[in-house]
Amino acid sequence: MGPRTELQEMAAEMTAWRHDLHQHPELGYAETRTSRAVADRLESWGLEVHRGLGKTGVVGVLRGALGDGPALGLRADMDALPMEEESGADHRSTTPGVFHGCGHDGHTTMLLGAAKHLASTRHFAGTVHFIFQPAEEGLAGARAMMEDGLFERFPCDEVYGMHNWPQLGFGQMAVGSGPMMAASDLIKIEIEGVGAHAAMPHRGVDPVYVASQVISSLQSLVSRSTNPADAAVVSITKVEAGSASNVIPRLATLTGTCRSFRPETRDMLEAGVERIATGVAAALGATAKVTYSRGYPPTVNHPTQTQFAGEVAASLFGEEAVDRSPEPSMGGEDFAFMLEEVPGSYVWLGTGGEFDLHHPRYDFNDEALPVGASFWVELVEARLGNQSAG
Ligand code: NI
Repeated sequence: MGPRTELQEMAAEMTAWRHDLHQHPELGYAETRTSRAVADRLESWGLEVHRGLGKTGVVGVLRGALGDGPALGLRADMDALPMEEESGADHRSTTPGVFHGCGHDGHTTMLLGAAKHLASTRHFAGTVHFIFQPAEEGLAGARAMMEDGLFERFPCDEVYGMHNWPQLGFGQMAVGSGPMMAASDLIKIEIEGVGAHAAMPHRGVDPVYVASQVISSLQSLVSRSTNPADAAVVSITKVEAGSASNVIPRLATLTGTCRSFRPETRDMLEAGVERIATGVAAALGATAKVTYSRGYPPTVNHPTQTQFAGEVAASLFGEEAVDRSPEPSMGGEDFAFMLEEVPGSYVWLGTGGEFDLHHPRYDFNDEALPVGASFWVELVEARLGNQSAG
């Protein structure tokens, strides 16, 4: 058990690809060098390659040697984060302020490794669409590819995505049915009072005091309005008001995020933020303007494909190394858009390591490259391998 020998033999080659991507990170929709490297490699291995979906996205099409069968979509993300790297690694970013702090360089490399191997064997019946998407970090690159006709041009019966997970030990995987990642929404609340001298508050309406009451009251959405068996988060992360110690300002602005798993909870949060902000402000003589922007939907795994992905993981790592009902993460993930349209599953690959995703000293664990690539190969051959005697 463990990575397949053929993929283990590609470990050094994959590590070199990953380090090259890591040294040249690119932000969402600007992955031109990365996208070219991906497309050129796929082409050199004989895949049919389509460039420019969702601006910088790439699809590689590979047909099996064993005849017709279902079509699978395997997805990796290619973008980096706008942050400074502090890993000190020899292969550290050469672009100031841009860093592969979420391991998408590893995701891209693992899917490339699987594509290279499968292109040389083609031991399956059906079609694999290798989907390399831009802009996962907040800019909805998955949706951009779908708007460019991803699933019309490359129909997929099932889709799978994988993310490295440092909190999970190396050699483990986690995949559960239902929500894996949360819906991630943005809120902005503009509170307008009446400015005054700080020594004469009765002459104005203090928006700072109103904001403090709004912040406190919003937490009732979690503690009093969310089903205790469900989960929700409301975080106000930015408070802006005022310019001097002796002036009551006219405006206060609050910014934050709401997270949830269930559609009804998400609807409740959206309505609740509006009701509480405007109601509390009105009660105190101010007004509030609420902007609630829906971001990524929750990432919800489909049961059949999740059961299957769990079996593939167990065949590689052993049943005891696979968590089939992990605690979902309140983070967001734009693979959610694909799972809304096509049945599939999103898995976490345990990579271990000292630093979490998005930490300035995080670096993708290269040992995991052949492991993740093996998962992809195994998944394709298990799902499409027994369709035909060939
Ligand atoms: Ni990520």
